[in-house]
Amino acid sequence: MNRINILDDNTANKIAAGEVVERPFSVVKELIENSIDAKAKNIIVEIYEGGQQSIKITDDGIGVHPEDIKIAFMPHATSKISDIEDVFTINTMGFRGEALPSIASVSNTVFKSRTAEFEYGKEISILGGNLEYIKDTGCNVGSSIEVNNLFFNVPARKKFLKSPQRESALITDIVTRLALAHNRISFKLFNNGKNLVTTYASENMMDTIRFIYDKNTCENVINFEEHGDVLSVYGFIGTAELSRGSRNNQSVFVNKRYIKSKLITTAIETAFKSFLMINKFPFFIVFLDIYPEMIDVNVHPTKSEIKFKDERVIFKAVFDVVHKALRDSRINSFKEVQDDFIDVLEKKAEEEKLLQEKIEILEMPIDLKFENSPLNYKVLESSVDSVFEKKIELTTPTQTQSLERKLPSLRVVGQFHNTYIIAEAKEELFLIDQHAAHEKILFEKYRNQIKNMQVMSQLLIIPTVMELSPEDFSTYIENKELFTSTGFGIEVFGDETITIREVPIILGKPDLKNLFLNIIDNLKNMGTGLTVDVKYHKIATIACKAAIKGNDPLSQVEMVRLLEDLSYIEDPFNCPHGRPTIIKMSVNELEKKFKRIQ
Ligand SMILES: Nc1ncnc2c1ncn2[C@@H]1O[C@H](COP(=O)(O)OP(=O)(O)OP(=O)(O)O)[C@@H](O)[C@H]1O
Ligand SMILES: [Mg+2]
Repeated sequence: MNRINILDDNTANKIAAGEVVERPFSVVKELIENSIDAKAKNIIVEIYEGGQQSIKITDDGIGVHPEDIKIAFMPHATSKISDIEDVFTINTMGFRGEALPSIASVSNTVFKSRTAEFEYGKEISILGGNLEYIKDTGCNVGSSIEVNNLFFNVPARKKFLKSPQRESALITDIVTRLALAHNRISFKLFNNGKNLVTTYASENMMDTIRFIYDKNTCENVINFEEHGDVLSVYGFIGTAELSRGSRNNQSVFVNKRYIKSKLITTAIETAFKSFLMINKFPFFIVFLDIYPEMIDVNVHPTKSEIKFKDERVIFKAVFDVVHKALRDSRINSFKEVQDDFIDVLEKKAEEEKLLQEKIEILEMPIDLKFENSPLNYKVLESSVDSVFEKKIELTTPTQTQSLERKLPSLRVVGQFHNTYIIAEAKEELFLIDQHAAHEKILFEKYRNQIKNMQVMSQLLIIPTVMELSPEDFSTYIENKELFTSTGFGIEVFGDETITIREVPIILGKPDLKNLFLNIIDNLKNMGTGLTVDVKYHKIATIACKAAIKGNDPLSQVEMVRLLEDLSYIEDPFNCPHGRPTIIKMSVNELEKKFKRIQ
C-alpha cells in the first residue's frame, strides 16, 4: 500500500483547481471513488435527508495507515500520484488529494480507518476544516466516513440545495452509475434507512443492469464489444423501447470513470440516427478503455470531463462500433421496429385510398348526389359519420372558447401534402399547418380547462403501471398535485411504482408511458423556483403534442371545422411551441412574385 504524500507546489498548481464539492452528491461521488481506489469489495452509502443532514460511507478496502490519517485531510495529500507525470498514467479515480480536505472544510467530518497490519484503527474528527480530535479506535479493516451538516458554514451553498428528495435522487443517480461501472463491487444505498439501491458483485455486467434497471431493460439491450491495442469500446445499447425524452439513461465511462462527453454522446447518437427515426435519446451504457497516455483527466475540478489526445479517432471508433452493433442487431430487435414501420406505411396507404374515394363523393355537388345515386348518398352518410366520430375531440366546444373571431371566414381550397390546408379569404391566400393548428386548438382548450380547474378525465379500462427510476419517482412525488390538477389520476403502487388510472379526455389515447416520462423529464430540467403556471403551460404543451398524430388526409368537412375552431381561439397564429400555424399571402404579394406588378 502506498503511503500518503503531499504534492509539491509545482505539481499541485498543475492540477485543475476549483470547486470539488458542489452538493451532497459530489461528496458521495468523491467518497465512493476513494473506496473504489482502496479496492473495497463492499461499499455501503447511508444518507439522511438527501445527504444534507448526514452522509456515511463504509467500505472494506485497504484502509489508511494510522500515521497518515491526519495527513489525508491536508490539501494536496494523496497516495495516488507523486508528481504530475503520474497523472498521465494513473488508473485510480483520485489523484488531486483535494476531496477530503474540501469536504472536511464545509462539514463536520468523522473518518475511521484501519489497515490489516494493525490491531486497532484511528478516528479523526474535523469541524469546518479545524481538527477536533484524533484517537485510537476499534474497527474493522477498511474505512468509514461520516459527513454531517454539510455546508453548515457556507449558507450561500446551502441555499442552493434542492429538496431532500431531489438531492437524494441525484445521489441515487451517481451511485447507480458508479455501480454500473464497477460490477465486481457490491453497492448498497440507504436514504433515511430505506434501501434505494442494491447491487451484488458479479462478473457479468448484465446482472448489474438487472439490479439497477429492470428485466425489461435487460431484454431490450444489445451487448457489443470491440477490442483494440490502444482502445476498447464495449457496452450496451438499448432498442427504441428504452429511448427517452432526456439523456438520463446514457452513461459514458472512460477507464471506468463516469464522465460527461459531448464527443462520445454525439458519436453514439449519430450512429443511431441512420437506423431509427426517433425524436428521443437512445439508451446506452458505453465503456471506453484507453491507454491513460491517450487522455487527460486533469481538465476539470470534479474530474467529470476528459480530454482526448485525438478526438477524431475516438469519434470514429465509437461511431463505427455502435453503428455495427445496430446494423447486426437488425435481424432481431431492430428489425421489429422496421417491420412495424412498414406495416404502418402499408396500412396508411390503404386508408388513404379509401378516404380519397370518400372525399371525392363528399365533394360532389349535393343535389347531384341526391338525384343521381341513392347509393352514393348512403356512402356519403357513412363517411360523414365516421369523419365526425374521428374528429369528435377536435370539435367539442368548450365554454372557455373566445367568441371573438380572430381570422376571417375562410373558404377551403384544398389540402397539400396531407399536411397543409390551402384556403382563401377576400384578397388573401392562407396556408395552414393542420397539425400545428390542431395542436394549438387542443392546447388552448386544455390550458383553459386547467386554469378553470375543469379538466375532464377519463378512466382507463386497463390502468398503466409504470416502474420508475428513483429520480423520476422523486420528481413525480414532488409534482404530485400538478398531475392531479392537469387531469391525471395516479396512485403510488409500492416502491417507485405508479399506476395511472385516469387521463384528460381531451388528449384522446396518447402514448401514456412516453407522455408521462416526457413530462417528468421536462419537470426535472425546469428546476425549482418556477411558478405553477409555467409548469401547467409546459404540461399542456407536451400533452397536446403527444395527442396529435402524423400526416392525415382531411376531408373538406374536417378542414372547414378545423379552420372554424382555429378562428375562435386566443392566438391562432402560433403553435404552442411558438412556430407559425398560418402563412398568409395577399394577391398583391403574389402578383409581385409573378412579376405581374412591380
Ligand atoms: N476510503 C478510503 N480508504 C483508504 N484510503 C483512503 C480512503 N479515502 C481516502 N483515502 C486516502 O486519503 C487520501 C486523500 O483522499 P482524497 O480523496 O482527498 O484524495 P485523492 O483520492 O488522492 O485525490 P482526489 O482529490 O482526486 O480524490 C487518498 O489518496 C487515500 O490515500
Ligand atoms: Mg479521492
